[in-house]
Parts: sequence; C-alpha cells; structure tokens
Amino acid sequence: MRPLIAGNWKMNMQKDAGIALARDIDAYAQSVSNVDVVLCPPMSLLGLVGALPTTAACIGAQDIAAAPADHGAYTGDVSGAMIRDLGATYTIVGHSERRAMHHETDEVVAKKVTNAYAADLKVILCVGETLTQRESGSAEAIVTAQIAADLSADSTSNNTVIAYEPIWAIGTGKIPSMDEIAQMHAAIRAKLVALIGQDGNNVRILYGGSVKASNAGDILALANVNGALVGGASLKADDFKGIIQAGEKV
Ligand code: PGA
Repeated sequence: MRPLIAGNWKMNMQKDAGIALARDIDAYAQSVSNVDVVLCPPMSLLGLVGALPTTAACIGAQDIAAAPADHGAYTGDVSGAMIRDLGATYTIVGHSERRAMHHETDEVVAKKVTNAYAADLKVILCVGETLTQRESGSAEAIVTAQIAADLSADSTSNNTVIAYEPIWAIGTGKIPSMDEIAQMHAAIRAKLVALIGQDGNNVRILYGGSVKASNAGDILALANVNGALVGGASLKADDFKGIIQAGEKV
C-alpha cells in the first residue's frame, strides 16, 4: 500500500515560516513517486497554506467542529465546510491532546468524523493508549474500542485513515518495540475488517509517536504500517524529508 506521511504542526508556526516550510516540503514531495504527503498546519495558517500552488502535498486541518451544523452560533469552532473552503482535503480527528486537554469523548470524536465525511474531508482518526493502560495489558482493547466507537457505517478506505499513537510515545522520544507496533497494527486491521468488511484491508494505518528520520525506515517496513503521523519532526524540513524518503524506500 502506498504510504502516507502526515505532518501535524500542532500549535506551531507563524505565517512566513509556515509558508516556507510548506513550499519546501511540497517541492520535495514532487520528487518522490510512491508516497502521499499531508501537511496539517494550525487553523490560523490553513487558508494561507491551502492557497499555495502546492501540487504534491495535500493539506489537512488538525481538528473540526462537532457542531450539528456547518455554520451558526458556535464561537471558536470551524466547520468541515469552512475547512474544505480553505483548500484542505483531510482533517485529523481525536488527537490525544484534544481528547485529554479538551475532554473530547468518543461521542464527540464520532460527531467530528461524521462532520468530516459530510464535508468531503478524509479523516485521520487518532487512537492510542496511556502508559498505564499498556502496562496493565489493556492497550489493544482500548484502541480497538476507540475505533469501534469513533467510526461509522460511512467509513471506507477512501475517507478514513487510522493513526495509532501511543500517548506515552508522543513527544517523548520513546517508542514501543517493533513487535508491539506490529501487534497493535494487526489488531487494528482485524478490527477494521470486522467493522467495515474486506475494505478494512485497504484502510491505511499510520504509526505516530516520536517518529524521526532515523527510526522511520524500521517502523514503515512493519506489516500493516502504512505511513506515519509526525509531530515534532514535521517542523524541520530536513527531518520531515528524511521520513518521506524512508517511506519512498519501503
Ligand atoms: P511527535 O507527535 O511526533 O512529536 O511524537 C506525534 C503526534 O502527536 O501526532
């Protein structure tokens, strides 16, 4: 499966640096033939980055409103229609930072997934366990339950990407063992097939959490790992290009 490398800029970058980074990555993405690249700038830059004449990299938002309408009295929220209007074709949904800091439950995440589909946005659904949950042996149960609760009958391999991000691996420099990643991705694959049938075999499952150019090759070579969601290393052009290059070699 063609790997997808997505950069989650989180709450980083102001306009000049963000535009320069997006241009640089897009130019690099044009030179690789086997990797899909998605850039997810903060909402403040989505319009500027979305308006660039990028030809290879797709643009995504980091979040989408859960509101039941695509416009109206929802202060601070940005709807799927608005995101699409800015040139984005993807949105991250359910990132662990939003689940933790904004108390997003699976119920809220499921509404966001539905809103993204309605706006013709592809969803990058983030799931993952805490360190306590991993140590207690419940990681697979937690992650597969999130997937079951957050996806819908409308989910397909065309509109949905899963990003498995162990919470304890995000921004920490720690990653699970290669066996642990492969086992979790196999469990996610089985759950997807159980939920949506054979098309579940075509859904891309990204790994995220402390991905760097130096570990990306090993991670991307694992069975059922179909790309990476990258935070910190997506902010430096050379680091992110190194990860894209690792995807090209898989
Ligand atoms: P990280 O973040 O690459 O900085 O660990 C990943 C993410 O949160 O998507």
